[in-house]
Amino acid sequence: MRKDLLSASDLEPSDVEAIYSLADHLRAVPLSRALEGRAVALLFERPSTRTRVSFEVGVSQLGGHPVYLDYTTTQLSRGESVEDTARTLERYVSAIVARVSRHDTLERMAAAARIPVINALSDLEHPCQALSDYYTVREKLGRLRGVVLAFIGDSTNVFNSLALLGAILGVEVRIASPRGYGPSRALISRVRDLGGDVLVYEDPEEAVRGADVVYTDVFISMGQESEREARLRAFLPRYRVTEELMSRTGKRSIFMHCLPAHRGEEVEDAVMDSESSVVFDQAGNRLHVQKAILVRLAEEGHLRRRPIGLGRPAAPPRGPRR
Ligand code: CP
Ligand code: NVA
Repeated sequence: MRKDLLSASDLEPSDVEAIYSLADHLRAVPLSRALEGRAVALLFERPSTRTRVSFEVGVSQLGGHPVYLDYTTTQLSRGESVEDTARTLERYVSAIVARVSRHDTLERMAAAARIPVINALSDLEHPCQALSDYYTVREKLGRLRGVVLAFIGDSTNVFNSLALLGAILGVEVRIASPRGYGPSRALISRVRDLGGDVLVYEDPEEAVRGADVVYTDVFISMGQESEREARLRAFLPRYRVTEELMSRTGKRSIFMHCLPAHRGEEVEDAVMDSESSVVFDQAGNRLHVQKAILVRLAEEGHLRRRPIGLGRPAAPPRGPRR
C-alpha cells in the first residue's frame, strides 16, 4: 500500500482485499492495540459527522490517540503554509487524516509530510467513502465483480471515487445527470486507464435499468452553496430518487447514499426509509473500513511508532536540515 490515500486510484486490488478482510475481522474483534502509542491528527476544513466520529472512535478502538483539529482554530487559518503545518505535525503524530476544500491542499501536505496523509473528502474525491461503500455492497449482495451501480444526480467527489474504485473492482458504474453536471473527461479517462468505464446517461430511468445498486448524493455539495438555485433548477424533479425510479431497476436493488441526505431533494423519504435502503449500515461500515485502512498502513510499515524526531536527541547536523 502506498504511504498516502488521496485518491481511490491509489489502491491496488490487493490493498482492497486486505482492507476488507481486516474490516471483517475488526467488526468481530473491535478493540486492539494496533495503534498503541500512536497519535493520528484529524484535520477538518469542512463540517463532518460520520467521517470525524468514525475516525475518532476508530483510532481510539485501535489503542491510538486521535487529535481532532478544526482548521479554523489552527494557524492554517492565519496563513501558516500547508507544508510547514505538515512538517510540524509529523513530529507529533503518525498520520494525518484531512478534509479539505481543495484537493491540491492534500497533495501539498502529502508531498511535505513523511507520514501518511489520508483524504477524508476533498472537492475531487472521497476515497474512504467509496472503499467503505463497496464493502457494504459486498456485504449486502455477496459479490462485487459484475455488480451494476447506477448513480443518479451530480457527479460529485463521492461519484468520482466510486467510479475509480469501481474500475479496480470490476463494478459497472453508470451515471445519469443533467447536461453540464456529468463526469469530467479527465475522470472518465482515468477510469479507462484503470481498465473500467463510466456509462453516462441523461435519463435516470434508462440508467437504473437492471441496476443492483441505486446511489445518490446531494445536489449541492459543500462549497457550492452559492449555486443552490441553479442546481435545484437543473436537477429537480427529474433526478430525485423516488419509489417509482427504484421500481424501474426491474429487480430487488439496494439504495445507497453517502449521507448527509437532503430528504425531499435528491431522494424522497419513502426511499430513504424503505426496506431496500442500506444507508445507515453503509454509514456504520465507515468505522470498520477506516480502521482497516489504518491497520493496513501500520502493517505495511507506514505508521511510525515514534513520530519523527522522537527518541534520542538528533546528532549534530552534518549537512543542511529540513
Ligand atoms: N459521508 C460523509 O462523509 O459524511 P460526513 O460529511 O458527515 O463526514
Ligand atoms: N458531495 C458531498 C459529500 C458529503 C459527504 C459534499 O461534498 O458535500
